[in-house]
Amino acid sequence: MLELSHVQVFHGPIEAVHGISINVAQGQCVVLLGPNGAGKTSTLSAIAGIAQYRGAINFLGNNLVSASIEDRQRAGIALVPEGRRIFSNLSVRENLVIGAATRNNRSAVLKDIEHWFEAFPVLGERRHQMAGTLSGGEQQMLTIARALMSRPEILLLDEPSLGLAPLICQQVFRLIAELKESGMTILLVEQNVRDALELADYVYLLNTGQVTQEGDHSLFGDDTNLMAELTGIH
Ligand SMILES: Nc1ncnc2c1ncn2[C@@H]1O[C@H](COP(=O)(O)OP(=O)(O)O)[C@@H](O)[C@H]1O
Ligand SMILES: [Mg+2]
Repeated sequence: MLELSHVQVFHGPIEAVHGISINVAQGQCVVLLGPNGAGKTSTLSAIAGIAQYRGAINFLGNNLVSASIEDRQRAGIALVPEGRRIFSNLSVRENLVIGAATRNNRSAVLKDIEHWFEAFPVLGERRHQMAGTLSGGEQQMLTIARALMSRPEILLLDEPSLGLAPLICQQVFRLIAELKESGMTILLVEQNVRDALELADYVYLLNTGQVTQEGDHSLFGDDTNLMAELTGIH
């Protein structure tokens, strides 16, 4: 469904990712692991059209070379960026409306909003509350629900559990597991190796802008020392 071939990602003159190749098949949950600065966010940014890149990114059989950020959203790519970027002065409901900006069918959008309020009762109960008043975990749920409002084919998640208390982390992982169950294709960037591996159909380990290892989750076995060494996460 999504194929990156020899992708280099640039921030101005700086090459952050050096020719990586990654595949995500329909319905899979693929996990990108790696220490800080490895190029994980840069990779997701290139897919979403936010960062400049060379090499090919193909999505649903089309090369995205000249596709804008909006074109990619319309094609079915949704990014949940690092750091829960909600609109804190808008209500929970208004945040979801914004997530549907690429869609025209208003009644279908309203129906989806109700659907997500049922799926995420914490959001439903707070629909008229300013999003900035939500807890960190609730804001993460809102960010994910907002991304889902574009009815994506693939969800790119950038460290969704970062900075959340362990119990809230578990809720976020449960939600991602449910999305996977429902058939959503997911590319997940995580530092929380153990939880991420449980969801992973396939894993890429990124280090200093290169894929250094890849395989299914058995790649890491039960060797936590190896895992820590490979990912820089202890
Ligand atoms: N906007 C930017 N401008 C310049 N360098 C950047 C920018 N964003 C990231 N980088 C650099 O690119 C490399 C990869 O960063 P990033 O993709 O954020 O890694 P990760 O998400 O794995 O922590 C790092 O060396 C980082 O300093
Ligand atoms: Mg990052």
